[in-house]
Amino acid sequence: MVPLDLRSLRLQVRMLSWPTTANRLDVDEGRDREHTEAVEATESRFDPGNEERRGCIVDDVLGYAGKTVVVSGAASGMGQATAQILLDLGAKVTALDVKPTTVRVERAIEFDLRDPQAIERAASEIDGPIDALFSCAGLPGPPFSELDTVLVNFVGARHLAEQLVPKMAEGSAIGAISSSAAIGWQQHLATLTELLETSGFDGALAWLQANEEKWSWSGYAFSKYMIDAWVGWWCPELMQRGIRINCINPGPTDTPMMPAFHAMATKEVVDSAVGPIGRYSRPEEQAWPLVLLCSPRMSYVTGEVLWTDGGFYGAVTTGRQKPVMG
Ligand SMILES: NC(=O)c1ccc[n+]([C@@H]2O[C@H](COP(=O)([O-])OP(=O)(O)OC[C@H]3O[C@@H](n4cnc5c(N)ncnc54)[C@H](O)[C@@H]3O)[C@@H](O)[C@H]2O)c1
Repeated sequence: MVPLDLRSLRLQVRMLSWPTTANRLDVDEGRDREHTEAVEATESRFDPGNEERRGCIVDDVLGYAGKTVVVSGAASGMGQATAQILLDLGAKVTALDVKPTTVRVERAIEFDLRDPQAIERAASEIDGPIDALFSCAGLPGPPFSELDTVLVNFVGARHLAEQLVPKMAEGSAIGAISSSAAIGWQQHLATLTELLETSGFDGALAWLQANEEKWSWSGYAFSKYMIDAWVGWWCPELMQRGIRINCINPGPTDTPMMPAFHAMATKEVVDSAVGPIGRYSRPEEQAWPLVLLCSPRMSYVTGEVLWTDGGFYGAVTTGRQKPVMG
């Protein structure tokens, strides 16, 4: 077997790493050095005899080594898996959640996405430049109120992103978690646009309070419609700053949220949203696509909704699968 030359690999890594403008390269020598150190630290964490691990980590193929990332909802489920993967890829992770996180991140901040001042405080404590924001926190609907569900899943998530965008670097990205429950969101565009056009947390809250009949049939589904609409809506403005935004639409996933879905909709209804793949996904099977979407390797992908639902969307759209309605 030809021995791997780590030095030349590292050189390639640096040439292929996070896309920066010539201008940014000039001013970012410090970050570049940090990046190299992070790649080296990541290399040394893995058994040099393990070809498979070495191949994927040494290359820093996704460009996260030494990068500064923020993960909301990092205490559990998909957010926790996302934070762990990013840590393994050599990123410096700030975790945000209403609960304490067990992932050994660089920094953990507890906050409540229903509280705009808490969001602003948390955002002010995070130093830029931020390379990626992963918006993973969420509520399932009952036993939580419909209003709290929309506040956490969309209004608070949007407020957090808006607070952090001024600290986000050119070439950075936002990745949000929506749901396969958002199927058909385009049919509600007129209502969704009304909420998209509101300004800030308080503007959104005032709209929700004044228009309860338009969304309270399911705070969960409505909040996920909003996420799918939001990525397309916001992407032109963000692109002017060189920031991308995308979301994933997961199908049923084995996380601590699942019992609430079973209690609310019944297991039969949830199972009917499993695509041709024939099983629930694992949290890391959602975290990886989200990590990929925010990677600089996806530099031409923005405003997109990625259906991570085991084929459900395609099968339903073409009439090959009929979900049981809850
Ligand atoms: N599990 C599924 O089947 C499924 C399917 C599609 C989409 N989703 C979405 O995936 C995302 C992640 O959910 P999960 O399944 O990993 O569930 P989870 O319950 O394991 O994780 C959700 C996280 O959000 C945090 N959170 C809740 N309320 C918060 C608040 N007020 N402020 C700050 N953080 C708060 C929780 O503490 C928790 O850590 C959610 O947006 C959810 O709607 C889940």
